[in-house]
Amino acid sequence: MTFRITYSMLDADLSALHAQFDQTLSSVRARLGAEYPSWIAGTAYRSGDLLESRNPANPHELLGRFHRTPASEVDRVVRVAREAQRAWGATPWGERVRILRRAATLITERRMELAARMTLEVGKNRLESLGDVEEAADLLRYYAGQLEEAQGFVKPMARLSPNEDTRNVLRPYGVFAVIAPFNFPVALAAGMSAGALLGGNAVILKPSEETPWCAEGLYHAFADAGLPPGVFQVVHGEGESLGAALVRHPALDGVTFTGSKAVGMSIHQQLSTGRARPCLLELGGKNPAIICRDADLEMAVEGCYRSAFGLSGQKCSALSRIYVHESLQQEFITRLAEKARGVTVGDPSLASVYMGPVINKASVQRFERAAAAARSDGTVHAGGERLRLEGALAEGYFVAPTVVELAHGHRLMREELFLPFVGVTGFDTLEEALVLANDGEYGLTAGIFSRKPSDVEAFMDRVEAGVLYANRRTGATTGAWPGVQSFCGWKSSGSTGKGGCGPYYVAQFMREQSQTRM
Ligand code: NAD
Ligand code: ALA
Repeated sequence: MTFRITYSMLDADLSALHAQFDQTLSSVRARLGAEYPSWIAGTAYRSGDLLESRNPANPHELLGRFHRTPASEVDRVVRVAREAQRAWGATPWGERVRILRRAATLITERRMELAARMTLEVGKNRLESLGDVEEAADLLRYYAGQLEEAQGFVKPMARLSPNEDTRNVLRPYGVFAVIAPFNFPVALAAGMSAGALLGGNAVILKPSEETPWCAEGLYHAFADAGLPPGVFQVVHGEGESLGAALVRHPALDGVTFTGSKAVGMSIHQQLSTGRARPCLLELGGKNPAIICRDADLEMAVEGCYRSAFGLSGQKCSALSRIYVHESLQQEFITRLAEKARGVTVGDPSLASVYMGPVINKASVQRFERAAAAARSDGTVHAGGERLRLEGALAEGYFVAPTVVELAHGHRLMREELFLPFVGVTGFDTLEEALVLANDGEYGLTAGIFSRKPSDVEAFMDRVEAGVLYANRRTGATTGAWPGVQSFCGWKSSGSTGKGGCGPYYVAQFMREQSQTRM
């Protein structure tokens, strides 16, 4: 039986799936440490300058070595893409859809291999890794469907005279750079690339330097699906060097970026010099949940726990601020802290582990600074320390799931930490809670727990964020799925106005042309 893993999956007999995952993990582990190229013009490119990918649960474990693409090669990569795009942009849209649907099938077929790599490379537990891979395949199918539904985005328009025929068509821009983050290394790299490719653009993917191994797997799924050489290239390297060189290239026609606000804004600044070009930014979050006086407390604790600590808090959608009615504050905190202390933290490749490591040493250091500030300015109810596990995991980047009580104005309630670290504070009236939820620079996701429909309606009307959830036990602020929720960042969480996972995604990678024939 084949299981589909979605984030909302709660209880199911997954024994067959675990057995398959264990088997794949052993075969993946037998190949650790291999060398992998960048992929330029459909061929393996080896610079000899190697980027190492290591397991954050055990940094001594070398997963693979990846040939960096030097900044000096960027010009060739862009020229290759431009050349390949001519034919790709002219390929009938139905053929582009067929190839991307085939890529989705290959991703599904290879999901165990991709997920095993991801668990080792990012530290996601196995179900989260499988969810990421399934999400990638579903994104491709959903985006392909957008082209089908719009029949390639050709729309007959009104006539001013009987002998006039006007059509509105969407056409590709040309060459897009896709710059991807580490935390959804298959889903987001695949989704952004697919949007651009379906729109008839060529793509240069620069994956996160933390996740080249996942990107290597994705490259093969796309290439084996039949994308012509040069239409989809993957270049490995660090953001500050290769990423910056790529977005500086004057011949790029657009950039789509998912990552932190700081990097996104620097790319935006870069793209706004020279000629006008699209720069699609999907950025961070500081996502709130409101727990009202009459909330189902058990549901609220479960939803908040899942959203705060899933993937070690390293989701843009992660819950990081909780506003709870004062009458429930102490009971809620006690129950959430108890759950946090009960989280199994350890080797994410084991079926029994819920939370793996954070991605790197810098994240551990950020955690230690945040915990020290919380100890000095608030109350730490659970966690607050780095965890030193035993044996092979002794140097792993493990931190304890952390619940702190803090005043709303504290900087830890405003800055995105991207850690399993959640701040809680009380409120008196719903009006106050709505103001607190909106008081911040980000606007990505938000949740409410209330039995009163009028509270839920006020929340839906007033909260300034792109993804809203009410009474969701499976995740207070997390768990968007392609074609179900759209994922649009408001305020500093994004510039696109049309989110990933959503119905208008592909059109963003195309520009309108009005064609009138007499
Ligand atoms: P990051 O901003 O550090 O890196 C993202 C990508 O940008 C990486 O590929 C990196 O190499 C590259 N990069 C870094 N500096 C660059 C530069 N100067 N020029 C060009 N490229 C550069 O983000 P991260 O740590 O990989 O991911 C976490 C961030 O992503 C969080 O802020 C999270 O909220 C955000 N995120 C947002 C969404 C969303 O849908 N809105 C989804 C996932 C992650
Ligand atoms: N799809 C992921 C979530 O909503 C980002 O949590």
